[in-house]
Formats: sequence, structure tokens, C-alpha cells
Amino acid sequence: MKNPSKILSIVAICVFASLQLFAQTKVTAIKAGRLIDTATGRVLENQTIVIEGETIKAVGTNITVPAGAEVIDLSRMTVMPGFTDSHVHITGQSGTAEYYEGIFRRTVMDEAVSAHIYAKRTLDAGFTTVRSLGSGPFVDIALRNAINRGDFPGPRIIAANMYIGSTGSHGDLNGFSPWLGDRTPPEMTGLADGVDEVRKKVRYLIKYGADVIKFGATAGVLSEEASVGAPQYSQEEMNAIVAEAHLHGIKVTAHAHGAEGIKMAIKAGVDSVEHGSFLDDEGIRLMKERGTYLSADIYNDDYILAEFAKFGTPQKIIDKEKLVGRTQRENFQKAVKAGVKIAYGTDAGVYPHGWNAKQFAKMVEWGMTQMAAIQASTRNNADLFGMSDKIGSITAGKYADIVAVEGDPLKDISILEKVSFVMKGGVVHKTASGKAAR
Ligand code: ARG
Repeated sequence: MKNPSKILSIVAICVFASLQLFAQTKVTAIKAGRLIDTATGRVLENQTIVIEGETIKAVGTNITVPAGAEVIDLSRMTVMPGFTDSHVHITGQSGTAEYYEGIFRRTVMDEAVSAHIYAKRTLDAGFTTVRSLGSGPFVDIALRNAINRGDFPGPRIIAANMYIGSTGSHGDLNGFSPWLGDRTPPEMTGLADGVDEVRKKVRYLIKYGADVIKFGATAGVLSEEASVGAPQYSQEEMNAIVAEAHLHGIKVTAHAHGAEGIKMAIKAGVDSVEHGSFLDDEGIRLMKERGTYLSADIYNDDYILAEFAKFGTPQKIIDKEKLVGRTQRENFQKAVKAGVKIAYGTDAGVYPHGWNAKQFAKMVEWGMTQMAAIQASTRNNADLFGMSDKIGSITAGKYADIVAVEGDPLKDISILEKVSFVMKGGVVHKTASGKAAR
């Protein structure tokens, strides 16, 4: 080594240069032919969106494209903020096993190894943020973290982890001999009874990374309890769950089909009601008064009635679905008419991930305008998630979560089922030709 100090300075220059390269944030400009402004409900033409790193820097007509920016031409497309879904079960999917096979021969490990597939399908469909409302112990938490690290593509996940439910509830395994025994350690289930236990369960879930709390206010459809709608927690237990979560600044949502349980959950102060099937007039009044969101999975019924028998689902469960399907849609329509805040929640996982957008057409069929349905999945959900400053519209300062479709979804909403372009946090996931970007 003739001149060590010279070598050292060359090394230093190289290190500095590569650091500079890293520090340089990528700048992208999107040319949007039509842009749906979900904040105002208007359509804007010929907009330029400038993106720096993961954030939108500017949007408008008279924006100059910064020198060196990569330009993405979506001038023949309709551009919107990324869609969001307030109710998915991102770690699993019905029909991947026959009913009893699924219960007796699959474990949380099977769930964990497949979850990334569903995450990718969800993002492929243009859903850039989802609320995971119930997964096997810690699976959605691990999935969220891996996506945030950039290990593989998927939507932003607001994770509830385990569903909190009472013994014998929709969140418990029912209908089998007690001698079969369930050896899952209590910390690895969401089961909790009584005010003290539910408070502790909320604390435990938050301690280990839950972003939202989900509990079962009533019975359900796809489980073996006799009723669909009976309350499954007392008013005191529901009050305790909501109060405890809200102390931590964490939002709460309740699975609720029956009219009584829905009202108990609203009175307890939940931020949203899932399903809402037998919502009555008093429930609608209470939701309006409190600003509670309705997250009603009104596409689900079509899929369950068409497919679930093939999965070996017991007839009594399919019969329960028949009690719910149409009434849920009628009550959804009533709620829309009355002006209840509507979230976009599909319960995807009951039906295939990546089909999340199929519910748009149902929402239009059952009383919403196309624009209102798009706003439910963007602006409204952003508000429900407490993320209005980050997502829900294409606005400077928010994440560059952007999708585009060919054609006009305000004329034909089903176009949203074929998203051509997907960007999440400034990174192109699917190019305008519909191909995967990586
Ligand atoms: N997870 C829900 C339950 O089992 C699905 C309900 C599906 N049916 C419907 N009509 N939305 O209760």
C-alpha cells in the first residue's frame, strides 16, 4: 500500500457518494386524465400529481414536472386514491379446505404460511389499506410487520389480531364434544368473560401490537351457535371493552347482526358496527346521533349461497345465511337513506381476497351513488381508521396511494373490479399496462 491516506480519501468519497444516492428521494409525476377528488366528490380533469418518496407533494392543473422526475402517463385513465377495506380476514380464506378438514387438520401455522398470498392479491386489486378484523394469534401482526419492513408486497394493515368473544360465542368453537378438548393456551385465543377479563384482553392485545379492537357483540352466521343475532356480551362487558381501548386511543369495532346487540354496542361507544344485519330504526337513530359507522358486508351473501355448500359447510349454517342476506341489504339501504356514515367493509376472506371491489356494485344497487360508494372506500374509511391526514384522498401531504382504471366508474361502477394501476406509498405495484412492477 503506497499511499494509505489517498486510498482512505477515495474510500471516503465513495461512501459519501453512495450515501448521497440513498438520500436522494425518488420523484415521480403522474399525469391524470380524470381524477376523482374524494374529498369534494368532484371529478377534476388533466391533473398532475407530484410524488416525492412516499408522499404526495402537489396536485393540480398548473404544476410543473420537476426536472429528473419519472413521468407516469395515466392521461387516458380515471385516477383515484387507493381503496381501503374496513373488514377483511387477510390471513385466511374460506374454501381452501373442506369445512371439517379446516377445523380439525389445519393450524395457525397453515394460516401463517399462506397469509402473504392474500395480502398480495388484495394490493393487486387496488386496496392499499385494510383493517384486519380477526386472525389466528399474532398472524396479522406478523404479516403487517413484514409488509412494513418491505419483505413482500401487501396493503397497509390495521391489525386487530384476535377477535374478542365470550365462551360459546361466534368467536369460540362450538358444536363439538367437550371431550375433544381445546388445548390452545388462553393467551392465544380472544376468549374473555366478565368485565375484568375483557379489560385484560384489550390490554394484552394492545400490549402486543393491536391497532384496533374487534369484539363480538352478537352471534353470527358462519359458526355453530343456534342464533344469528343474540347478544353475546352484557352491556357492562361491552362498555368495559370500549372504555379500555379508548383510554389507549385505540378504536373499537363490534361484530353485530341482531338489533339488540347492535344498539348495546353503539351505546357502549363503538366506532363502527360490522354487518348490522337486523339494524332497526332506533339503531339507525343512535348511529346518526353518535356518528357510528356502518361497515356492512353486503356482497357476502351471493358468494356464501353460491359456494359454501361445496365446501362441506353444515346446512344449518347455510340456513342462517338465508335469514340474513336480504334483510341486511334492505337495512343497509335504510341506513344509507337516513344518512348513517357508511364504511366500506367486505369481510373478504369469507370470499376470495382480491375480490374486495365487488361490493361497490352492491352498494350502488342498494342505494348509494357511485361517488358515495367510492368515498366510502376512501374518505370515510380514512376517517374511521383515524388516518384522514394520511390516506383517503389525493392531497398534498398524504401517502401516494393511487389507483387507476380504464373508463368511467361513475357510469359503470363495476369497472373498479379491474384496476390497471396500483401505487402504494409512492412505489408502483402494478403498471398501467396491468403488469406487476416487481
Ligand atoms: N363473518 C360473518 C358471520 O359469520 C359473515 C356474515 C356473512 N353474511 C352476510 N349476509 N353478510 O357472521
